[in-house]
Amino acid sequence: MTTIRLDALTRTFGSVRAVDDISITVADGEFFTLLGPSGCGKTTLLRMIAGFCDVERGAIFFDDRRIDRLPAHRRDIGMVFQNYAIFPNLTVERNVAYGLRARRIEPRQIAARVETALERVRLGGYASRWPHQLSGGQLQRVAIARSLVIEPAVLLFDEPLSNLDAQLRTQMRVEIRQLQQSLGLTAIYVTHDQEEALAISDRIAVLRNGRIEQVGPPESIYQEPRTAFVAEFMGATNMLAGVAGAFDGATTAVSAGQTEIRVNGRVAAPGDRVMLSIRPEILRPAGADRAGLPRLRARLVMREFLGSLVRLHMTLADGTPIRVSVLGGDVLALRPDAELEFTYDPAQILAFPAP
Ligand SMILES: Nc1ncnc2c1ncn2[C@@H]1O[C@H](COP(=O)(O)OP(=O)(O)OP(=O)(O)O)[C@@H](O)[C@H]1O
Ligand SMILES: [Mg+2]
Repeated sequence: MTTIRLDALTRTFGSVRAVDDISITVADGEFFTLLGPSGCGKTTLLRMIAGFCDVERGAIFFDDRRIDRLPAHRRDIGMVFQNYAIFPNLTVERNVAYGLRARRIEPRQIAARVETALERVRLGGYASRWPHQLSGGQLQRVAIARSLVIEPAVLLFDEPLSNLDAQLRTQMRVEIRQLQQSLGLTAIYVTHDQEEALAISDRIAVLRNGRIEQVGPPESIYQEPRTAFVAEFMGATNMLAGVAGAFDGATTAVSAGQTEIRVNGRVAAPGDRVMLSIRPEILRPAGADRAGLPRLRARLVMREFLGSLVRLHMTLADGTPIRVSVLGGDVLALRPDAELEFTYDPAQILAFPAP
């Protein structure tokens, strides 16, 4: 039962502001993700919470306790790293027991707690194995067991899945989420993978250059990005530069090259430059069922068959590239240069002021 409060945290390295005045409150039992591109300060922020990196300005509270001046081992946290950080010269059991031995827990209790922790990560029966006898996914489970066994108040993860293959990654992220939920732990999870963040988080903070760009639940970050940066970072989107035209009381006409695109509401004064975010899945092959919606014509350059989806690489009349994702079916028969017409809902197109 722990609430984490970061209060105006700052950390600089020379002239780099790695973490720049960040304030966040993570609720008890919440799975909170720090998401952002390489170098935006995710690891630095996590290390400040863990006690591996000094706080230059600001404070960190676990509930009402200020913890940023405590040494790492007194902060009541479990941390899981990208590279597992498993001791190669210790068995699985000894690796998991490490934190308990350091805390001078009684040996019989250690054995019982290690067994429980290994069962939680589905590694019961692996206690006497050596690290070199384990797969990457199993090694990461050992690392998770080791962080759980000390019964921490808070779990911290720094890109724990990035060394695993794609299939294992999607499987393990569900395991991590279920474990965190069943134990009711407060977790902060670092990733630069937006799909992973969307899939498992209660809330996400998108970071950029050491600052928070936006905080919110996955759906709102994806559907209502507040800046062009967030729109672009949260999954594939088409960013089109355009110029705002007339507002007809319901939609604004934006001209992007030779194409008119409708956007709900008055998004800018006529003549202002804007950026439009058009997600690949909001364009649908035109059919009778979507009559009345605005249309967009494009020419096929190539298609990628992705199993459940087909990604179409198209160009608008003026040559602007645009990607469209559709469910299989008719489009599989299309040849390059085919002309296609799409409909879209203007409410799903986002407009931002041009930088
Ligand atoms: N010990 C250090 N000394 C100097 N600069 C550092 C140090 N640690 C981090 N930085 C700088 O601080 C910035 C943030 O780094 P950080 O490791 O927190 O980024 P990150 O978001 O975790 O990136 P990645 O996704 O690549 O892991 C970077 O510009 C980095 O070069
Ligand atoms: Mg990092």
